[in-house]
Amino acid sequence: MEVSRVVVLVVLAYLSLFAAHAEPQSRPSTTATAPKSSSTDISTPIKFEGYIGDQACESCHAQRTQTYHQTAHFLTSRLPDKDSILGKFASDAGVLKTSNPDLFFRMEAKGADFFQTAVEGEPPYTASRTERFGFVIGSGGKGQTYLYWKGDRLFQLPVSYWRELGWVNSPGYRDGVPNFERPIIPRCLECHGTFFQPLPPPPNRYGKTGFIVGITCEKCHGPGRAHVQHYSSKSASDSAIVNVARLSRDRQMDLCAWCHAGHGTPVHPWFSYRPGEPLDQYIELPRFDPDTPIDVHGSQIELLKKGRCFASSGMTCVTCHDVHAPQHDLAEFSQRCLGCHKAENCGMFPKHGKQIVSNCIDCHMPLQETNLIVFDTNGKKARPRVRSHWIKIYAEQPGS
Ligand code: HEC
Ligand code: HEC
Ligand code: HEC
Ligand code: HEC
Ligand code: HEC
Ligand code: HEC
Ligand code: HEC
Repeated sequence: MEVSRVVVLVVLAYLSLFAAHAEPQSRPSTTATAPKSSSTDISTPIKFEGYIGDQACESCHAQRTQTYHQTAHFLTSRLPDKDSILGKFASDAGVLKTSNPDLFFRMEAKGADFFQTAVEGEPPYTASRTERFGFVIGSGGKGQTYLYWKGDRLFQLPVSYWRELGWVNSPGYRDGVPNFERPIIPRCLECHGTFFQPLPPPPNRYGKTGFIVGITCEKCHGPGRAHVQHYSSKSASDSAIVNVARLSRDRQMDLCAWCHAGHGTPVHPWFSYRPGEPLDQYIELPRFDPDTPIDVHGSQIELLKKGRCFASSGMTCVTCHDVHAPQHDLAEFSQRCLGCHKAENCGMFPKHGKQIVSNCIDCHMPLQETNLIVFDTNGKKARPRVRSHWIKIYAEQPGS
C-alpha cells in the first residue's frame, strides 16, 4: 500500500518536472506534492516595482555587467533576431522534414521577422499554417525553443533548434504531426525570464508590454532603484539591495532553488517571490523519496544535497559557481574541489597521479542523459546529457 503510494507520488513528481518542458497544461504536482493553500488567489496581478534594468547597473558595475551579459542566464530568453535564433534560414537549411511524407516545416526570415510554417499534403493540394517567432527561450548552449503570440496568449512553436541536431521537433512533440496548441504557462517564463504579467485565465495570457526578457541583475538582487538612488545621491539610508553573499545558507540555496529544483506548485502567484525570502512560502517544490532516482535536468539542488560534500560542509551553489561570468573550464572547477580535498586522498591518485587535478569532474560529477527532454526525430529519440550534481564515487570511470 504505502509503497504503491510512494510510486504514484514519484511518477507524479516526475511528470510535474516533465511538465515544465513538455506538457505545461497538465500540472499533476498540484495534487502530488502538497495541497496548495486554497485561500491564496494565485491569479492576482503582480506588483513589480522599483526595477530599473541592467543598463542602470552597468554605469557603476561595468565589468560585472559585461561578463554577466555573456552568460546563459542573461541569454536564456530574448526577442527574435538573426543573432538570437541559432537555427539557419537559408532556403534548404530552413526546412525540417518529418517521418510523415505529407508534412514538412519551413523556417523563413523576412526583413526583421521570422516565421515557421507547417506544410501538409502533396502539391497542389497543400494546406499550411504560419506563425511568427515571438520569443526565443534557451541560451542555445544546448538548444532553444520558440514561442508565438496569438492575441495575448503565448504558445510554443512546433520546431525547436538543438545544437547537435539543428532544427528538430520541439521536445516531447510527436514526429509527423503539426502541433501549434501547446500553451506557455507562467512558470516557464518565471524560470527563463525576469518578468511577465500574467492575466486572468486561460493561464497563457500575458501583458504584451512591460515584460522583461533574460534573467537580469535584479532577478537575483531584487529591485535596484533605491540602491541606485543611494549611490547616485545618498538619498536612501542603506545600500538597499540584496547581497546574496550575506544571506544565510538556506536563503542562498533558496535563490538557486527558485529555478533549479523542479517545477513545483504555487502558494503565491508566480513572479511574486523576491530573493532573500523563504522560498517555501511561495512555491511548494517537489519532494523526492530518498530512494527515488532524480533526473539530472533541472534538479541540481536535490542532487547536490544527496552527496556527502554538501551534508558535511557549509557548501552552497556559490562555492563553485560565480554566476556573473561564463564558466566552463573543468580544471578551474576542480580547484574548487581542492579547496576542501587533497588530490592524494582520491583513491585514483596512486594510479593516475597529479594529472587528476585537471579534472575531478568527469569522474565524480559525470554527464548523464535526461529523460525529461526527449526529441522524437525521424524515428529516433534523442536525449541531451546534463552534469550530475550528486558528487560521489561512480562505478563507471570515464577513460579507464
Ligand atoms: C551609482 C552607482 C551604482 C549603481 C548605478 C549601482 N550600484 Fe551597486 N553598488 C555601488 C557601490 C558603490 C557599491 C558598494 C561597493 C561595491 O560592492 O562595489 C555597490 C554594491 C552593490 C551590491 C552589494 C551590496 C552590499 O550590501 O554589499 C550589489 C548586490 C549591487 N551593488 C548590485 C547592483 C545592481 C543589481 C545594480 C543595478 C540595478 C546596481 N548595483 C547599480 C554603486 C552602484
Ligand atoms: C530565475 C531562474 C533562475 C535562478 C534564480 C537561477 N538560475 Fe541558474 N539557470 C536558469 C536557467 C533557465 C538556466 C538555463 C539557461 C539557458 O541555457 O538557457 C540556468 C543555467 C544555470 C547554469 C548553467 C550555465 C551555463 O553556462 O550553461 C548554472 C551554472 C546555473 N544556472 C547556476 C545557478 C546558480 C548557482 C544560481 C543561484 C545563485 C542560479 N543558477 C539561479 C534559471 C535560474
Ligand atoms: C523550474 C524552472 C524551469 C522551468 C519551469 C522551465 N525550465 Fe527550461 N531550463 C531550466 C534550467 C535550470 C535549465 C538548464 C539546466 C538543466 O538542464 O538542468 C533549462 C534548460 C532549458 C533549455 C535548454 C537551454 C540550453 O541552451 O541549454 C530550453 C530550450 C528550455 N529550458 C526551455 C524551457 C521552456 C520552453 C519551458 C516552459 C515550457 C521551460 N524550459 C520550463 C529551468 C526551467
Ligand atoms: C543568478 C543570480 C544572480 C544574478 C542574475 C546576478 N547576481 Fe550578483 N550575486 C549573486 C550571488 C549568488 C552573489 C554572492 C556570491 C558572489 O559574489 O558570487 C552576488 C553578488 C553580487 C555583488 C556583491 C559582491 C560582493 O563581493 O559582495 C554585486 C556587486 C553583484 N552581485 C552585482 C550584480 C550585477 C551588477 C548583476 C547584473 C549584471 C548581477 N549581480 C547579477 C547572484 C546573482
Ligand atoms: C566545501 C567543501 C567541499 C567541496 C568544495 C567539495 N567537497 Fe567533497 N566532500 C566534502 C566533505 C566534508 C566530504 C565528506 C568527507 C567525510 O565525510 O569524510 C566530502 C566527500 C566527498 C567524496 C566522497 C563521497 C562519498 O559518497 O563517499 C567525494 C568523492 C568528493 N567529496 C569529491 C569532491 C569533488 C570531486 C569535488 C569538486 C567537484 C568536491 N568533493 C568538492 C567537502 C567538500
Ligand atoms: C562542487 C562544485 C559545484 C557545486 C557546489 C555546484 N556546481 Fe553546478 N556545476 C559544477 C560543474 C563542474 C559543472 C559543469 C560545468 C561545465 O561542464 O561547463 C556544473 C554545471 C552546472 C549547470 C549546467 C548543467 C548542464 O549540464 O547543463 C547548472 C545548471 C548548475 N551547475 C547549477 C548548480 C546549482 C543550482 C548548484 C547548487 C544547487 C550547483 N550547480 C552547485 C560544479 C558545481
Ligand atoms: C579517473 C577518475 C577519477 C578522477 C579523475 C578523480 N577521482 Fe576521486 N575517486 C575516484 C574513484 C574510483 C574513487 C574511489 C576509490 C576507492 O574506493 O578506492 C575516488 C575517491 C575519491 C574520494 C573519496 C576518498 C575516501 O576514501 O572517502 C575523494 C574525496 C575524491 N575521490 C576526490 C577527488 C578529487 C578532489 C579529484 C580531483 C582532484 C578526484 N577525486 C579525481 C575516481 C576519480
